[in-house]
Amino acid sequence: MTNLPKSKLRIGLIGTGFIAQFHLRSMVGVRNVEVTGVYSRKAENRQRIVDLVTELELGTCTAHGSLEKMLQADDIDAVWILTPNNTRLDIMRIIHAEVTSGRSKVFAVACEKPLARTIADAREMLRLAEDAGLNHGYLENQVFSTAVLRGKEIVWRRAASTTGRPYLARAAEEHAGPHEAWFWRGDKQGGGVLSDMMCHSVEVARHLLTKPDAPRKSLTVKWVNGTVANLKWTRPAYADQLRERYGEAVDYRNRPAEDFARATILLEDEDGLELMIEATTSWAYVGAGLRIQLELLGPEYSMEFNSLSTGLKVFMSRAVTGAEGEDLVEKQNAEQGLMPVLEDEAGIYGYTDENRHMVERFRKGERPDETFEDGLAVVEILIGLYRSAELGQTVHFPAGDLEDYVPLVARAGD
Ligand SMILES: NC(=O)c1ccc[n+]([C@@H]2O[C@H](COP(=O)([O-])OP(=O)(O)OC[C@H]3O[C@@H](n4cnc5c(N)ncnc54)[C@H](OP(=O)(O)O)[C@@H]3O)[C@@H](O)[C@H]2O)c1
Repeated sequence: MTNLPKSKLRIGLIGTGFIAQFHLRSMVGVRNVEVTGVYSRKAENRQRIVDLVTELELGTCTAHGSLEKMLQADDIDAVWILTPNNTRLDIMRIIHAEVTSGRSKVFAVACEKPLARTIADAREMLRLAEDAGLNHGYLENQVFSTAVLRGKEIVWRRAASTTGRPYLARAAEEHAGPHEAWFWRGDKQGGGVLSDMMCHSVEVARHLLTKPDAPRKSLTVKWVNGTVANLKWTRPAYADQLRERYGEAVDYRNRPAEDFARATILLEDEDGLELMIEATTSWAYVGAGLRIQLELLGPEYSMEFNSLSTGLKVFMSRAVTGAEGEDLVEKQNAEQGLMPVLEDEAGIYGYTDENRHMVERFRKGERPDETFEDGLAVVEILIGLYRSAELGQTVHFPAGDLEDYVPLVARAGD
């Protein structure tokens, strides 16, 4: 039994890809944490993370060639699951087996979005974590975005308290397409952009509409209505681009996943007031880079945030040439002209405050504000939206028959 609070939380990363590096860079702004271990399948990937931990002075990090070995190490208190969606449940089963057998002293687990690809799998993730007595956190960074933290605080304290609660949240996240083959494959990822990015929009919108300090379940989903479409990447020239980039595994002429999704979600608060979420996501947006757009509307007020309306902009004439990069903004599409720059991506996207929150709650043995229960609730909404899109009808909640429902585009292979 671990004595809490611990003065420092020692964490192990499972996964060494894009998001693992984002988390590491954000940890520089988090106190009371050390990154003491990393596991993925390839030695060179693990070494890259060990080198980055050393460079960022985040601790002494050991590269583990087996997940079991990392979980059994005596310098790991908590693990962050940062691997592709199709690997989640197997990883969680290993964590459960190691902890319940007493071989591992790990007492907390955090998991990237989405929690799982189906409702049944998300429910199993939650059951395994609770059965092993683990504290658990769902990593939804947008909830911890600096704009969302500050905006929600002001709206609820000044405006909602005097004129009534907000009733409409709009959320959009769009970019020009993901960076690895597995994201494009419905069978691996669990769907297309609806599964990949609507999870952010749904949860940040639910968060903005939830009264501060009230549990998320104070809002009840009444019905969901979803639309999916293939706007860009099924056009022959773009399908061929994907094939050139990723090989036969990504075949958008024959096996596409949706690159556009729209959601309308009706909720009810504890007083029976109707609330609405409107969300839209796409992999078909070509602007400067990733765009997150959020709005919260109430009877006498509104708030809005656009991640590309940055205070900092840089102009580069056509004489400025150089390599392509993502050094100005995530999923950057250009290196010339008037470009928005996010001077602190880790903070603005929410990773710094997310990791600070998880580390502090785990270290003290307290329940995080975002848990696997929230991850499960998000998957229930996403699956309801997929079913609605397939039927061309609104899906009313609770929708008990969706437990094992697999979105159409995720049904092949795996
Ligand atoms: N919050 C956000 O905005 C955000 C953004 C991007 C991604 N994500 C989420 O983060 C997760 C990872 O995405 P990513 O972009 O980092 O993907 P990625 O760049 O493809 O990296 C995936 C990593 O997982 C490792 N891996 C793959 N299969 C594994 C297995 N069976 N066991 C252990 N490690 C395995 C890979 O390394 P090896 O090949 O060495 O095993 C690689 O390091 C996904 O769930 C994604 O949805 C969230």
